[in-house]
Amino acid sequence: MHLPKAELHLHIEGTLEPELAFALAARNGVDLPYADTEELRTAYLFDDLQSFLDLYYSLMAVLRTEDDFAELADAYLARAAAQGVRHAEIFFDPQAHTDRGVPIGTVIGGLGRALDRSEESHGISTQLIMCFLRDKSAESALETLDAAKPYLDRISAVGLDSAEVGHPPAKFREVYAAATALGLRKVAHAGEEGPPEYIREALDVLGVERIDHGLRCMEDPDLVDRLVSERIPLTLCPLSNVRLRAVDVLEQHPLRSMMDAGLLCTVNSDDPAYFGGYVGDTFRAVYEALGLDREQLRTLARNSFEAAFLDHDEERRAR
Ligand code: HPA
Ligand code: ZN
Repeated sequence: MHLPKAELHLHIEGTLEPELAFALAARNGVDLPYADTEELRTAYLFDDLQSFLDLYYSLMAVLRTEDDFAELADAYLARAAAQGVRHAEIFFDPQAHTDRGVPIGTVIGGLGRALDRSEESHGISTQLIMCFLRDKSAESALETLDAAKPYLDRISAVGLDSAEVGHPPAKFREVYAAATALGLRKVAHAGEEGPPEYIREALDVLGVERIDHGLRCMEDPDLVDRLVSERIPLTLCPLSNVRLRAVDVLEQHPLRSMMDAGLLCTVNSDDPAYFGGYVGDTFRAVYEALGLDREQLRTLARNSFEAAFLDHDEERRAR
């Protein structure tokens, strides 16, 4: 669907298509445990978030140089532009790279190179959101924040991702306080597989402005009331929820009841190379599976700009 929209929940590492993975593997002399792209695609059958993360992290071994990261981001931006994206707030996972010896400057330098050309080449304005891996320690997150200090002019916000259950937001209280002191904005994944309480903690302890996923708020009517009255945006990813089995089938996704409840919902692709579609494909899929009407699609697109970290002038230009 070509409606102008902003994408607010997109892991750049999750845009690594099998073809690019094999090309980078060949260029960098990395052995992949799959014969070809077909065989790799057959591994994209997930039981839950962890089974996806295992593959997601292992495939990142092919990303080594600044050029690799620039190529990855440029390929995403080209696809996103073709699906109506005008503004993208892009997550990256520095620890997934620094832990295998790729310096954070290589990651940010490469992504930054693609992002610098994005408005001109693709008509997409961009921001970068640096995510901490919540299954690693708070100390490791603090070290990452410290290592990112030379690049803060390129980073708009911090986020929290990876395995959720057992790693509540409060574990990162100090890290988010330090990020606030550096002038960074804040988001966090919460309520994807974790309980509604993690959504409250992300708001109350970390001070986030948006909740990534937030699906499980629907189990807690008081929390829904609060999210509605405070107009906290939720960056939903319906295709991801189906592939990672948070919902059984797209037809049963609660997006429609969430919109009816007055929640500020946005629709995003999460890890499009793995979950079967970019954001325009996702709009089309929910339109067909949930029987949304055109006005509801326009509301979702409008919400994406309202929820974006754009000032009013930038927002007008992007729409
Ligand atoms: N959830 C948590 N961590 C992630 C995801 C997700 O959907 N995608 C990439 N890392
Ligand atoms: Zn995500």
